[in-house]
Amino acid sequence: MQAEHRKPEQRSVVIVTGASSGIGREAALAFAARGSTVVGVARRQPLLDEVMQQCRQHTPESFALCGDLGDREFAQALVPAVEARLGRVDVLINNAAISKHKHIYHVSADEAEAVMRINFLSCVWTTLAAIPVFLRGGGGTIVNVSSFAAIVAPPREAIYAASKAAMNAFSQGLWLDLEGSGIHVALVNPGPIDTEIWEKEDEPPAYNGRKYPPSIVVDAIFESIEKQIHEVTVPRFDAQLLSARALALLAPGLLRMGMRRMEPVTDAVLDAARKRAGAKAAHPSPG
Ligand SMILES: NC(=O)c1ccc[n+]([C@@H]2O[C@H](COP(=O)([O-])OP(=O)(O)OC[C@H]3O[C@@H](n4cnc5c(N)ncnc54)[C@H](OP(=O)(O)O)[C@@H]3O)[C@@H](O)[C@H]2O)c1
Repeated sequence: MQAEHRKPEQRSVVIVTGASSGIGREAALAFAARGSTVVGVARRQPLLDEVMQQCRQHTPESFALCGDLGDREFAQALVPAVEARLGRVDVLINNAAISKHKHIYHVSADEAEAVMRINFLSCVWTTLAAIPVFLRGGGGTIVNVSSFAAIVAPPREAIYAASKAAMNAFSQGLWLDLEGSGIHVALVNPGPIDTEIWEKEDEPPAYNGRKYPPSIVVDAIFESIEKQIHEVTVPRFDAQLLSARALALLAPGLLRMGMRRMEPVTDAVLDAARKRAGAKAAHPSPG
């Protein structure tokens, strides 16, 4: 028998990771304005405190949990800690992530691991901890904020796109495994959204097209919970995103050509990479 799903109605408890800025900030404020108690998670305490202070004007029990989601112990303790303090958890929004717009020649193994831990594994860790809490509570919703990069990998984003594609595959697997449990999993794939994530890039991206307001992602999050939607890509009707999707299915070679042109690999980058590769072979480090 299908368990009854809880909707994000008044007095529900919602955990929002990455609530200190951008989409997570807007989502936290919107949930609180609708009457949900919000638990915001991020590393930058002053920013997070400011958001939670605003949330508390609507829902006084809202509070912040400050920490690094790349740390497995912290990530897996989140949902049980909220259940222990508030007695329930209704919605978990896995939204925190870091960007990594950097040529693969320049990406270190440590950087790649950090991206996978923060963007993908943290979502696995919070989800594994949330499942028993939701089963005890009679159901719940997990919203995974992924990216259009999971569908079409942009240039210089091999690691970031891989972290998001892993999140998408994980969510697809959850749809099957959690059948009948009362736990709904929603996947939201944003296109370009106007947040500070663009200012945190290691190498400036060439993209200078339209960026949409974070509110379109927040609306999609609410819609995916209320209508039990499995996957939504926003904006829904952007010509560039629609044509990229169509080309990925029908003419992947053409898509690759277009994507390469967005940010061509310059001779200087390739020469420098070859030089570094040569220098390494000439002076191999022990171990
Ligand atoms: N903006 C876009 O164009 C776009 C497009 C596609 C997908 N997305 C996705 O949308 C989500 C939100 O991104 P955004 O655009 O709102 O960017 P943002 O403003 O940079 O927000 C990222 C959030 O994640 C938190 N975070 C990062 N690393 C963390 C860590 N190790 N531990 C805990 N929290 C961490 C940040 O807080 P602290 O730094 O305080 O920890 C911040 O609150 C991300 O999953 C992103 O991949 C964004």
